[in-house]
Amino acid sequence: MLKVVQAIILAAGKSKRFKTGSSKLTQTVCGQPIILYQTLLFEKMGVNVTVVVGHHKDEIQKLIGHANKQPITFVEQTEQKGTGHALACTQSFWHKEYILVCNGDVPLITQDIITQLYETHIQTNAAVSFVTAHDTNPANQYGRVVKKENTINIIEAKEITGSLEEYCCINAGIYLFNKDFLDTYIQELAPNDKSLEYYVTDLVNMASAYNLKVNTISAPFDRVRGVNTLEELWAAEHIKRSELIKNHMQNGVRFLAPQNTHVDTQVTIESGCIIGSGVQLTGSTSIGKKTVVEHFSVIHNTVIQDHVLIKSHCVVEHSTIHANVQIGPFAYLREHNIVEDHAAVGSFVELKKTTLGAHSKAKHLSYLGDATIGSNVNIGGGTITANHDGVQKHKTVIKDNAYVGANNTLVAPVCIEEESYTAAGSTITQLVPAHALAIARSRQVNKINYVSVLKEKLMFVSKKKKQEKDQNYHAAVKMYEPEKVQEP
Ligand code: UD1
Ligand code: MG
Repeated sequence: MLKVVQAIILAAGKSKRFKTGSSKLTQTVCGQPIILYQTLLFEKMGVNVTVVVGHHKDEIQKLIGHANKQPITFVEQTEQKGTGHALACTQSFWHKEYILVCNGDVPLITQDIITQLYETHIQTNAAVSFVTAHDTNPANQYGRVVKKENTINIIEAKEITGSLEEYCCINAGIYLFNKDFLDTYIQELAPNDKSLEYYVTDLVNMASAYNLKVNTISAPFDRVRGVNTLEELWAAEHIKRSELIKNHMQNGVRFLAPQNTHVDTQVTIESGCIIGSGVQLTGSTSIGKKTVVEHFSVIHNTVIQDHVLIKSHCVVEHSTIHANVQIGPFAYLREHNIVEDHAAVGSFVELKKTTLGAHSKAKHLSYLGDATIGSNVNIGGGTITANHDGVQKHKTVIKDNAYVGANNTLVAPVCIEEESYTAAGSTITQLVPAHALAIARSRQVNKINYVSVLKEKLMFVSKKKKQEKDQNYHAAVKMYEPEKVQEP
């Protein structure tokens, strides 16, 4: 198959029904852009691919360029004049015996459908073969397959007169053409009377009209449903997500609420893990054995090893979490952190570009940024690395067995050497030598008997205030007293 088939993916359309202004093909289904479902499938199958681009072409080319390893040919359709016109734009690139044409908006397609399409095409000696599916919903705007006596036609839903319920066989938008057939008939495509677009489906109708063999294979609707609207995007996402979660379940992963858990295509989870309600596992996250991710935590592009406990409401991104670590609840590991074996990150702790060594603990209300923290270190609650001087970032180094007291401000660049202590409330601006105690706060002064002196002062003040008040009152009253009348 690989030697004789080339694939043409139609991806130039305007995505008008999406109504978001963006291309539907760049939107993701379980973390993977729709267009990549096909380009990566064909790459896996070893089939050579040409993609027709137009609307949002730079974005689509960039996505494919990043994801696909094999070179892909791009052909531009400068004016979107329909699926038939998009295919015609690629004519000079046809170089294999069979041309597989796929709508780019069919992300759930699988290898077995393509293989079956090819095999039956060869067996039946057809000029054209295409995939159909059974769909009883008349609201779905698919082309309907109408078989009458010896003819087979695809008629778009909006052009069908009468009840759509009678036409439950839909065209999936995946076709295999003999190159000879296409070379002969592509010029005969004419624009549709109403839409003025050229339809790829008219090639099927033409083959049938010329009594050439047209073959169909049937696939499950959920494998070939298209994505034209946001509602259809949600449907595809829902199907893919359920499929991924079921696969993980079969491998021994327990999902406490699979209906509201999000798992992306590239995520790997080992057996014995428990994934709580509302969890999102996205990007290229991998999770080791018997790890628990509690409810509403979001893990993105992160490697988590075995026996880790991520408590509820944590966000962990672009980080590496070693075995037996405990994180959260409410922790934020922003980017490029390494948390080593048996370390603990507690509630309302934020880490950025920080390594927290084995058995070290930062359990309460801290920000640790650009810090390298050794093993068995205690970071007291409320500790902040002041890593930014207003212009650039600086590093904090805390060596093994150091003990940072509560509410410290570590002004970077700064180093706290091993087995040293810093007193609570310190602002550390200089190196703390090994085995030392650094106290960097203003000294406490106790004023003995201060309160009784204060009370006396207060009493004097309040007495004076009362006198002033009385005087003011009497003055006011006097103002309103009638003047004494002089006796005649
Ligand atoms: C198409 C089929 C319909 C089929 C359905 C299956 C036609 C006329 N209709 O309808 O019979 O049931 O797919 O999903 O083909 N595109 C271009 N250039 C264009 C127009 C479209 O490259 O000028 C691309 C789109 O980006 C898309 C694909 O072709 O990836 C299909 O276009 P779309 O508008 O989704 O066609 P449907 O209306 O779904
Ligand atoms: Mg479509």
